Amino acid sequence: MLIDKNSPLPIYHQIEEYIKDRIEKGELKPGNVLPSEREYSQLFQVSRMTIRQAINKLVNDGYLYRKKGSGTFVAEKKFEQALQGLTSFTEDMKARGLTPSSKLLHFEIIPASPQVAATLQVAENTPVYEMKRIRLADEIPMALETCYISANLVKGLTEEIVSHSIYRYIEEKLQLEIGEATQIIESSLANETETELLKIKKGSPILLIERCTFLTNGTPFEIVRSSYRADRYKFISHLKR
Ligand code: GLP
Repeated sequence: MLIDKNSPLPIYHQIEEYIKDRIEKGELKPGNVLPSEREYSQLFQVSRMTIRQAINKLVNDGYLYRKKGSGTFVAEKKFEQALQGLTSFTEDMKARGLTPSSKLLHFEIIPASPQVAATLQVAENTPVYEMKRIRLADEIPMALETCYISANLVKGLTEEIVSHSIYRYIEEKLQLEIGEATQIIESSLANETETELLKIKKGSPILLIERCTFLTNGTPFEIVRSSYRADRYKFISHLKR
């Protein structure tokens, strides 16, 4: 029996769990079309309204997505990103067995604005690197990052270096120790630039992450504003009491 009508669990919830289970077991794969509401209502012997309720919930939770005129499809699995460790994009992707890469859109040295100067604790107009990178995993755009880095601290950055891992350069070449970061996460909707560069639909959900990172001696060295695809990312934190 697929669902138990006598169970105290609402039927739509049981159906939701059934579909989730099929996705988790790989019987329904990303990109697969979901059986229609009619087929499911025959299978479970329940109303189409109940099926719709289950599907709506799975769409809201990011397991499924709808395409106008073509049906409901299984979404790509979201990356789970732990919020504890201070890791780089390159490390995160490699840990998942994916190949990280970057598309450098902009790279120049500019005088620090009052806001950037205050956060990086340098005098206004001190040289800072300003750069914009699309971060990709297995060639798929995941995030767009705009970064300001103290040029007097992180010396010798080049287009070649920032097209790979900045953290690795800082630690291995400059022998500076990256210590900690503060991070703010907000939700937003993709604007035109994000839509185009991340190859997503206008108005798709985005996670805006602002990170300020410090060396172990307490000196801030970078401010990064990132737009992550919220359809591909979820953040997990471990809470202890
Ligand atoms: C992540 C962080 C950024 C950081 C970057 C460094 O993407 N959100 O704040 O600048 O990692 O990554 P990499 O060393 O791959 O350049």
